[in-house]
Amino acid sequence: MKKIKRFGVSLEDELLAGLDILVKKHKFPNRSQAIRFLVKNNLVEEAWQENKLVAGCIILIYDHHKRDLVNKLLDIQHDFSHLILASQHVHLGHHNCLETISLRGNAFELKKISDKLIAVKGIKHGKLVMTGI
Ligand code: NI
Repeated sequence: MKKIKRFGVSLEDELLAGLDILVKKHKFPNRSQAIRFLVKNNLVEEAWQENKLVAGCIILIYDHHKRDLVNKLLDIQHDFSHLILASQHVHLGHHNCLETISLRGNAFELKKISDKLIAVKGIKHGKLVMTGI
């Protein structure tokens, strides 16, 4: 278990009020959890900007009837197989498939595969969720 350190924080009234709004909005149990959330968000953002080792998940919505589209998605995933930890395909209905692809690797490479997959003709929606390790 990681050791937790206490420290004092000085904030202007306005910023403290903002922190408390964040606590309420996200239903954090306390201010410490809100600060933890903000610091981690910032560290993850910098890791992605600086091409560090990160993790992420691509979400794609498409119609599997478009055979060419499915083949293209598979080709791209095979080209970047060293980054892919797992993928899951769920059938949302007759025309809609939801695919999630979990990734770990250098940030720029993860962005590259994400851009390629989301840009495939026929993708209805695509999003890369960026997180850290
Ligand atoms: Ni499907």
